[in-house]
Amino acid sequence: MKNGLFITFEGGDACGKSTQVKLFKEYVATRKDKEHFVFVREPGGTSLGEKIRELLLCYEEDSPVPKAELLLFLASRAQLFEKTILPALNQGKIVVADRFYDSTIAYQGFARKIFEADEILKLNEMILGKYKPDLTFYLKIKPEIAFERKNLNSLNFDRMEKEDLDFHQKVYEGYEFISKKEKERFVVLDATKSIDEIHNEIVSSVENLIKNNTKKCKT
Ligand code: TMP
Repeated sequence: MKNGLFITFEGGDACGKSTQVKLFKEYVATRKDKEHFVFVREPGGTSLGEKIRELLLCYEEDSPVPKAELLLFLASRAQLFEKTILPALNQGKIVVADRFYDSTIAYQGFARKIFEADEILKLNEMILGKYKPDLTFYLKIKPEIAFERKNLNSLNFDRMEKEDLDFHQKVYEGYEFISKKEKERFVVLDATKSIDEIHNEIVSSVENLIKNNTKKCKT
């Protein structure tokens, strides 16, 4: 039975997510209960998943067609969920994932238009059952502003980062959709705020979540 907590970080490219995940990890390292936290990323997070990540983002010889892309993201998620996330939650740990299924709704659903969002949600349900994150930090930023932040030297961009503004506008619409549809778990953060302000909001939301969860466990 699930008794841990599941926290995810989401947002379009160049929203500052990686910086916030890194700062959050540093904050966790200062906590007494730091061994209760498990950090994972998607795609990736397992040794198979990391190979899939490479194929998805960097394999240029034979880029996946959209349906293959969707299935590879889902394969990576299935492996990570069963091997790492679920066992950790069952041990009462706090799992922190850098991206999860909201990314699939935004990128493969809204931007690539492979299937409707509801169909993608059904595919996810086949992997996750009824599991959903308890808390999702969505770093919200208009793609045109995020694009200004991106390094103009695009030589190191992965396949997704190389997509144009129109693609990233659809990604944004996807996040708007899912953050409203499943709003009970979303904390929407204004990603144009300062790094410290955003970090403080994240820390205080997580502290509240842990406090409330501890109370629930005692009753
Ligand atoms: P990032 O984790 O470094 O942000 O990069 C992962 C990229 O993969 C990012 O562009 C979003 C994309 N992605 C999808 O398109 N679908 C998914 O389901 C996931 C998890 C990520």
